Amino acid sequence: MKGIILAGGSATRLRPCTKVTSKQLLPVYNRPMIYHPLNTLIKAGVKDILIIIAPEYAGHFLNLLGSGKEFGARFTYEIQDEPRGLADAFIVGENFIDNDNVVMILGDNIFEDDFTDAIKNFKSGGKVFAKRVLDDPSRYGIVEFDDNQKAISIEEKPKNPKSDFCVTGLYIYDNRVIKIAKNLKPSERDEIEITDINSWYLKNSELEVAIVGGEWLDAGTFDSYLEAQILAKKKLAAKMII
Ligand code: TTP
Repeated sequence: MKGIILAGGSATRLRPCTKVTSKQLLPVYNRPMIYHPLNTLIKAGVKDILIIIAPEYAGHFLNLLGSGKEFGARFTYEIQDEPRGLADAFIVGENFIDNDNVVMILGDNIFEDDFTDAIKNFKSGGKVFAKRVLDDPSRYGIVEFDDNQKAISIEEKPKNPKSDFCVTGLYIYDNRVIKIAKNLKPSERDEIEITDINSWYLKNSELEVAIVGGEWLDAGTFDSYLEAQILAKKKLAAKMII
């Protein structure tokens, strides 16, 4: 299993703080934000990791993280020239993924859960992780379940969400994801959407949706960024292995 951290993007919602640095380099309590997704992957046994970054602060990521040796891992870097969407990770990462399966985590997502078993037991198809969100479900990809807890639809940022379960930022796919990503058409906001990848697997009855048991946050707004810092101080920092 290869690992990807998607740490580019434009971080417009954290301006002006992100005018002079990247969102994923901002501190979350006592570590740079990217240490959190990195910790999630390394703790789950994923040691071969591609870090996708925007051109502006690429050197800063290299200075901070280096070869990965210090973390007992191997890091590769790719530049994403334009923020073309989350699904672009599998196009930018094509050579790195090679013939393997891949787990992708967003560089601003903070998880308490341990994904070791999910990654070890993954065989084929796609696997995503949903969490109930209390406010503003229309910020996310929303999963609808039937009476047997089986996922039946996933919609990106719906105006009228069919549930309050959102898809969190850790995704496991088999190697077909590269081809699927390459065939996607950009959405109205001109991005290729990971929701379209998930819908492809769902239509083929090959998408598993598990529930995130522990805390989860996407630190992309000022409010969630503040919450992330408090969560890191109270619960996560003491348990991190990097
Ligand atoms: P988002 O938070 O959706 O986008 P953003 O970081 O550009 O922020 P904003 O909406 O405030 O402008 O991105 C989620 C994660 O994915 C984040 O770590 C940035 C990363 N990302 C990329 O690396 N490339 C992309 O093309 C996109 C859309 C996001």
